[in-house]
Amino acid sequence: TDKKKLIAGNWKMNGNLEANDALVRALVAGMKDAACDVAVCVPAPYLAQVQMLRHGAKLDLGAQDVSQHASGAYTGEVSAPMLREFGVRYAIVGHSERRQYHGETDTLVAEKAKTALAHGITPIVCVGETLAEREAGKTEEVVKRQLAAVIHVNGHCISEIVVAYEPVWAIGTGRTATPEQAQQVHALLRKQLAAATGHAGRVHILYGGSMNAANAASLLAQPDIDGGLIGGASLKAPDFLQIIAAAS
Ligand code: G3H
Repeated sequence: TDKKKLIAGNWKMNGNLEANDALVRALVAGMKDAACDVAVCVPAPYLAQVQMLRHGAKLDLGAQDVSQHASGAYTGEVSAPMLREFGVRYAIVGHSERRQYHGETDTLVAEKAKTALAHGITPIVCVGETLAEREAGKTEEVVKRQLAAVIHVNGHCISEIVVAYEPVWAIGTGRTATPEQAQQVHALLRKQLAAATGHAGRVHILYGGSMNAANAASLLAQPDIDGGLIGGASLKAPDFLQIIAAAS
């Protein structure tokens, strides 16, 4: 497809005021010729800082999670309307770290996606199998189940989500899926989206899992890989800028 690619950084629980300042300034200065869309998903306390730093640049802002509730007695949670006030365009939902360490279920992830959309935030819905699931031949079954949960919350919202395929065994391990392995799953996800919506071609399906400056181009060359969700390499401006260049 000829849509623009999307490169999204996920800082995870990293950063501080000083490091963020240097990183975002370097990105803004370095991405002037970027022909792809670029976003950084930052820890909630730094949204205001990054919103100010990116002022006037075409760098979009994302959150790493969002509550399934719009407001109320939910101590510790951050709502979609709050994120909107800080110019947030994207919210990651269902990252494997949230599923693993915070017990997030398919149903909860779907509710979060639905609430985000209702408040004008595009959910980046993460799906992906563990190593045990891949070795048991269950990759297709797992990612289909994870995506179906979100799609079937609200059929007509499908064209407004971003999907990220992140094989759990590739996250933070330095062990990237091969372009062929990734493409195979992306094609399955595209097919599933196509069955649910007329706009499957418009949906961005990102790859995530040890994507870096060296392997980005070959992954991004695959027909159904529309961008990347980058963890570790998004914390280093030169690396992230090289990935942006590979997608431009
Ligand atoms: O959200 C990003 C992914 O979990 C990938 O992280 O690039 O550090 O492997 P990583």
